[in-house]
Amino acid sequence: MIRVDRVLAVAIICGATLAAGALAAPRTAKGDPRAGEVAFKKATCVVCHPGGENRLNSRARLKGPDFAREFADDAKIVELVRKGSPRRGMPAFDRSKLSDRELADIIAYIRTLTPPPGR
Ligand code: HEC
Repeated sequence: MIRVDRVLAVAIICGATLAAGALAAPRTAKGDPRAGEVAFKKATCVVCHPGGENRLNSRARLKGPDFAREFADDAKIVELVRKGSPRRGMPAFDRSKLSDRELADIIAYIRTLTPPPGR
């Protein structure tokens, strides 16, 4: 026979564990730069953008104050990476090539390449 109090206890423990996990992992919304660095290699970004540079168009780097200003909004990076700039050599990466999670992590990594002003 299933005891209701035991089922309840299990449910409460599971709930508490999930809540603790959510609190302990605030990075989920923003992306993890270390995972992003790995994904940046896996998705081949690094081939054209080693260290955030741009081998094909040196003006379109992924770092520096101009980039930080133009791409201040993460959504702009998402749009560019999803659509690409095919005529200029930047491939489009749809979800079959790059998950939303990986892209969020990559953006977090890209953000580490431009230190905040004053540092
Ligand atoms: C085959 C080479 C190539 C690969 C692979 C590539 N890119 Fe690019 N990327 C480019 C080129 C070329 C541009 C400049 C496009 C333009 O001038 O419109 C660019 C531009 C960008 C920009 C805009 C930079 C700026 O300052 O305007 C971002 C952000 C970017 N790439 C991110 C990525 C990410 C993230 C990946 C991997 C998922 C990736 N790229 C893979 C070639 C590449």
